[in-house]
Amino acid sequence: MKLHVLISEFCAGNPTKNIKWKNQPKRKYCSNHFCFVLFFPVVLFFMLLCFNHLFFENIKGFVYFHGKSTGSVTYFPGKLNETEDSCLGRYIYIHDLPERFNEDVIKDCQLITRSTDKYSMCKSLENSGLGPGIEALNASDLWKNSWFSTNQFMLEVIFHNRMKKYDCLTDDSALASAVFVPYYSGLDLRRYLWGFNTSMRDLSGIDLVAWLARKSEWKRNSGMDHFLISGRIARDFRRKSNRKSDWGSNFRLLPESENITMLTIETGYSKNDIAVPYPTYFHPANDFQVHQWQEFLRKQNRPYLFSFAGARRSRQKGSIRAEIIDQCQASNKLCNFMDCSLFNQCDDPLNLMSLFRSSVFCLQPPGDSLTRRSTFDSILSGCIPVFFHPGSAYTQYVWHLPKDHNRYSVFISSKDLRVGKVTINQTLLQVSKDEQLAMREEVIKLIPGIVYGDPRSRLETIDDAFDLAINGILKRIKLLTKN
Ligand SMILES: *[C@@H]1O[C@H](CO)[C@@H](O)[C@H](O)[C@H]1NC(C)=O
Ligand SMILES: *[C@@H]1O[C@H](CO)[C@@H](O)[C@H](O)[C@H]1NC(C)=O
Ligand SMILES: *[C@@H]1O[C@H](CO)[C@@H](O)[C@H](O)[C@H]1NC(C)=O
Ligand SMILES: *[C@@H]1O[C@H](CO)[C@@H](O)[C@H](O)[C@H]1NC(C)=O
Ligand SMILES: *[C@@H]1O[C@H](CO)[C@@H](O)[C@H](O)[C@H]1NC(C)=O
Repeated sequence: MKLHVLISEFCAGNPTKNIKWKNQPKRKYCSNHFCFVLFFPVVLFFMLLCFNHLFFENIKGFVYFHGKSTGSVTYFPGKLNETEDSCLGRYIYIHDLPERFNEDVIKDCQLITRSTDKYSMCKSLENSGLGPGIEALNASDLWKNSWFSTNQFMLEVIFHNRMKKYDCLTDDSALASAVFVPYYSGLDLRRYLWGFNTSMRDLSGIDLVAWLARKSEWKRNSGMDHFLISGRIARDFRRKSNRKSDWGSNFRLLPESENITMLTIETGYSKNDIAVPYPTYFHPANDFQVHQWQEFLRKQNRPYLFSFAGARRSRQKGSIRAEIIDQCQASNKLCNFMDCSLFNQCDDPLNLMSLFRSSVFCLQPPGDSLTRRSTFDSILSGCIPVFFHPGSAYTQYVWHLPKDHNRYSVFISSKDLRVGKVTINQTLLQVSKDEQLAMREEVIKLIPGIVYGDPRSRLETIDDAFDLAINGILKRIKLLTKN
């Protein structure tokens, strides 16, 4: 008997003789129409129960094809194929390192704190390494829960915490396309960088590679499928001599270490170092927060043509900073200068972000090294970065920034600037309003890919800086290990 006939018979209080309802009521329970509405969900539920296998598997397939991969097994709509695996080629194995290489380093958080840090590293470790939340005075929804006073060196902890939640982790290293080494390289080194002899600085790196080389995972590819993350610049791990006065450790000069790819905030042009963005203050927990921030930036009023946040480098010979600051101050109607040598004003994220947010261009000259965290703060503010050295971004962040750098930035040769061939204000005034608008839109579109999402949640469709780094690592290791 047809189901709907059965239902309407029952509804009419006139069940067929095949089915004996209790007390055989003669009156109508309800109108046909109403009853159908009432029963349909119940019937649907039982149908789903019977065919649940097919139905729910296909829902999964649908989610896989139309949303972000969930890391679950792929199912194709209409036909089941349980052997197809969306994680195939993306599996990552995390080495279970002894705690002396990571947990112990941050347990003694006072040891890794320096007097120049805004917060003790103990405080910077809060919120999975994002640091203390930013308390906005005007606590609009825009700032709530997704802005933190993040210390750049915490990238190692943030990245590790993201790695722990990666979609395609495996306990079976034989299945893995890449092996992550959760060594807090920069934080470990920070304990010994000042006032310690070279053997103290080199100790843990030597210890680490010896530990790795003994493992079966190493033997498979001579470590070519291994990678790690550093919140310090690559040069810090490439000390040239054994003189105590020389800077840094020798970690990246060890033969085993050379086979490992290091993701770092600044490479030294070695082929096994790849640069990834510095962490900024924004760590969205969902896609909406990113889109909301982008919308907000598009509506910003930007009264200054350009701005600079930084300090002079008087002890550094040949630094272009003095010239840049002088030119900024000479164009005082056009340029806003935030002097970072005064009252730590640049350490206040809200202060800094509001400076960048009110400027069309943000000057990013080299500082102690070629790259600056400020570059990413400026992109995050929708402020078009102005570079004075190709090593400040173009040759660094090849997985995260577009190849065609004229689309999102301005380049001013520091040589031309020094000899007076160009001035900053003239160069920037030559950029038309339309060009500004197009470049700013490019910059705003870069934001999702340069932020590190909150490790405690998951972005739905956005590939953030972490995702792009992992995509890059998997491609790179595939090339390195193919025989
Ligand atoms: C399932 O997927 C595997 C691997 O892609 C393929 O070889 C196989 O033919 C597929 N089976 C069916 C029934 O489509
Ligand atoms: C807070 O709001 C006031 C008034 O609307 C404004 O002047 C001030 O700049 C805002 N502060 C921040 C940090 O946005
Ligand atoms: C290096 O310093 C450590 C302690 O700071 C000391 O124990 C060690 O003997 C020193 N090594 C050398 C080679 O000077
Ligand atoms: C590094 O990798 C190469 C192969 O790419 C291998 O020949 C060499 O032995 C490896 N070095 C170490 C120290 O494992
Ligand atoms: C442009 O900068 C130069 C110094 O580099 C300065 O003399 C000049 O007044 C500035 N022009 C404007 C409009 O600010």
